[in-house]
Amino acid sequence: MKLWAGRFQKPTDELVNDFNASISFDQRLYKQDIAGSKAHAQMLSDCGILTKEDNEQIQAGLDGILADIEAGNVEFSADNEDIHMNIETLLTERIGDAGKCLHTARSRNDQVALDFRLYLRDEISSVVENLLQLEAVLCKKAKEHQKTVMPGYTHLQRAQPITFAQHLLAYASMFTRDITRLEDCQKRMNECPLGSGALAGTTYPIDRFETAAALGFDAPMRNSLDGVSDRDYALEFLSAASILMMHLSRFSEEIIAWCSWEFKFVELDDAYATGSSIMPQKKNPDVAELVRGKTGRVYGDLMGLLTVMKSLPLAYNKDMQEDKEPVFDALDTLHQCIPVFAAMVDAMTVLPQNMRAAASRGFLNATDCADYLTKKGMPFRDAYKISGKLVYLCTEKNCTLEDLSLTELKKLSPLFAPDVYEAIRLDTCVCQRKSYGGPAVEQTSMQIAAIEHFIAAHTK
Ligand code: ARG
Repeated sequence: MKLWAGRFQKPTDELVNDFNASISFDQRLYKQDIAGSKAHAQMLSDCGILTKEDNEQIQAGLDGILADIEAGNVEFSADNEDIHMNIETLLTERIGDAGKCLHTARSRNDQVALDFRLYLRDEISSVVENLLQLEAVLCKKAKEHQKTVMPGYTHLQRAQPITFAQHLLAYASMFTRDITRLEDCQKRMNECPLGSGALAGTTYPIDRFETAAALGFDAPMRNSLDGVSDRDYALEFLSAASILMMHLSRFSEEIIAWCSWEFKFVELDDAYATGSSIMPQKKNPDVAELVRGKTGRVYGDLMGLLTVMKSLPLAYNKDMQEDKEPVFDALDTLHQCIPVFAAMVDAMTVLPQNMRAAASRGFLNATDCADYLTKKGMPFRDAYKISGKLVYLCTEKNCTLEDLSLTELKKLSPLFAPDVYEAIRLDTCVCQRKSYGGPAVEQTSMQIAAIEHFIAAHTK
């Protein structure tokens, strides 16, 4: 018998029963549902709406159900539609009439909004933990490679020399923002919808501040209609998750390129690469490719829920039951991707010689050559032109800037002196880029310290 069977003359069609039910996926919310119900019953009792005895029975009954679910001894049923009605039905089966009082001054609409918020709030913390571990790996690797010179690119064309540390720390900065974005969203979602009722609050003298505090919220939500209609928190999470996956995907793309024969900047550890069933020589970066690929599904999760929500009138509509799977899917994807990605980066071998070799071809010091003349008094635009002409000369002669003789250099500007060779040396180009945020060791050390401080502040 359905909990809501009163006004119906016929049983639900079997097809509808299965179609309508969400228990197959929302059973994940069992812990939050029980915590919410316990806080609700306690508040009802404190406000004199529920007897002390009923409350005690409810508390004990819910504790028992929680233990049984965790022990794997509860079988949920689609007849009871969702996790909320499964648990309430079970409670009444176990403790009798007291169980029937639990839903006083509450609706499944505020109940599901509460459970989902509680669940996501906790899960965000665990995504942040995963990200902090990735940050730690990046810091460790960056420390090892503060002097590893590599080409920096724009348009995927060799541009200016940087260090591998600088490159890794760029990603570390992005993940730092991802963490703060997730935490912002966690902060904003920390208002309690419980007590919004079906949509219009309740006539019972409930205390929404009590339940909000008991469940660790900063405050109850101020508008009951908003309380049951709002899914911004899920969308904010999915947006933050999408941006985070975009970062992981760009990083994956680079790792895939770096371990190709065309680059050979890194070698993946055997434990994080896969072979081919036909080509014996292959060592494929499947982990990075899958992370890049799974980015698509997280974007899909975001677009899916945005689309579900876009035309819904206030307040609750059953469409909103479609909010859970995309969020669960995005969470599962993040929980899978971040640790395996961090482990892969941790285990990969960096090949500094190859990076250096790549950085020494492609005129990455052409800007430094222009800067040399500028520092000797020539306006930058003129110096830029001369440096460009020298690059052209080198392409004709198939040599590098530092291969040109002083006589050849002086033909274009009398400002060139023997110290130019030191000025355009690869290591000088990197060491001298000491401007705030630059790749020089002083600067990457500061970046590493800032990220380590961020990690420490989060793990205290
Ligand atoms: N299973 C539902 C969901 O996930 C719970 C809320 C149902 N409320 C309702 N009025 N039918 O959205």
